[in-house]
Formats: sequence, structure tokens, C-alpha cells
Amino acid sequence: MHRGIFVTLEGVEGCGKTTQMNLLADYLRGKNFDVLTTREPGGTEIGDELRKVLLNPETKEMDYRAEVLLYTASRAQHVSEIIVPALEEGKLVLCDRYIDSTLAYQGFGRGLSLSKLIDINRWATQDINPHLTILLYFPTEDGLKRATTKEADRIEQEDIEFHRRVQDGFLKLAQRYSERYQIVDATGKEREVHEKIVKVLNEFL
Ligand SMILES: Nc1ncnc2c1ncn2[C@@H]1O[C@H](COP(=O)(O)OP(=O)(O)OP(=O)(O)O)[C@@H](O)[C@H]1O
Ligand SMILES: [Mg+2]
Repeated sequence: MHRGIFVTLEGVEGCGKTTQMNLLADYLRGKNFDVLTTREPGGTEIGDELRKVLLNPETKEMDYRAEVLLYTASRAQHVSEIIVPALEEGKLVLCDRYIDSTLAYQGFGRGLSLSKLIDINRWATQDINPHLTILLYFPTEDGLKRATTKEADRIEQEDIEFHRRVQDGFLKLAQRYSERYQIVDATGKEREVHEKIVKVLNEFL
């Protein structure tokens, strides 16, 4: 068994995952937790190379299965190189996206078999699952607008219907895995959302 605590942040494009992960890390470090922050896809040198391929707007018509395998390859490397060692050292790991993003985007968004995606991911991640998943709930279109102030990446370029399926998918996952999910309303100011997340964390810890 690993001694650490594994917390993931999930949600649609631009909902505030990265912003809130950083605020939460500062808060927890202030409470003397040994915190590691990381993100997907990426988090390792190999993963960052895969991230470039996955998010490059010039990469057109990627086969959906190839897409799953690249995300999952990045995740396998991330788990074995970063997450497992950190958990073994007793760290509190905060991860910006994890398996649920594959289930939401490639499962609900692309329409691929959820059970197949779950199988592949259980294998790839050595069955390492988050203890807590915080779903930042934010309106799909507003999130996309926030996220695409820079050039839209390959996934952000998908149409709004795709992103709505992803949003619905996250809500379904929150029901299915209700024992580890907490939904946080992410529509307020950064500090307001942060306070809500802190409350969730303190109830969990
Ligand atoms: N509560 C908030 N109010 C206003 N703007 C915010 C808030 N939270 C985040 N933002 C801004 O919205 C943008 C998207 O936030 P952030 O990058 O944290 O989201 P994300 O979920 O990580 O997005 P992505 O899915 O693209 O990685 C950023 O420019 C950020 O500064
Ligand atoms: Mg982000």
C-alpha cells in the first residue's frame, strides 16, 4: 500500500483546474503537507513529447484509438515515473486531469467503449486510483472562451456538441464514482472557488 494521498482535478476546458491546483498546493504547503503538483498529458519528458503530438492543432485526423493509446501511454509513464514514487514517499499528489478525462473525452466525447477504456487504463496505471476527485463544474461555452483566448489546441477545436458531451460525461462519472467525487461550483471568483475546494479538502483529510 502507498502512504500518500492522491487527488485529481477534472473538468471541461478553461474551468480553472490549473489555477485552482496551484492555489490549493500553496494552501496545503502552508499546512505543512509535502505536496507534488503535476499534470496530464505530460508530467514527464516522454509525456511532454506525447502532449505536443496530442494537442498540436496541426495534427489532423488522429485515429480515436491512437488518441486513447497516446494519452494512456503518457499516463503510464507519469504513474510509474512520478506518481507512484511520490505516493510511496507519503506525498500529497495533486494531478491536473487523470483517467476520468479519458473517460469523459474519448468515452463520452468520441463515443468509444467505456469498459474498454477503463480496462486499458487500469492496466496502464497499475490500478492507481485517486482517493479524491474534484470536479470543477463550469459552463461549457464560457470555459471554452476562457481556454481559447490563445490559439485553440487540437481538442479545444472540437465543436461545442463534443464539449457538451464531455461535460455531461464528467457529471455521469461523478455519479458512478460518487465515493471519491466532489463537485465544486467553479463559477465564482478565483478566491471563492478556492475556499470551496479548501472546504472539500478539509472534510476529506
Ligand atoms: N474564477 C475565475 N474567474 C475568472 N477567471 C478565471 C478563474 N479561474 C481561472 N480563470 C482564468 O481562466 C483561464 C482558464 O483557467 P485555467 O487555465 O486555470 O483552466 P483549466 O481548467 O486549467 O483550463 P485547460 O482545460 O485549458 O487547461 C485562465 O486565463 C485563468 O486565469
Ligand atoms: Mg489547465
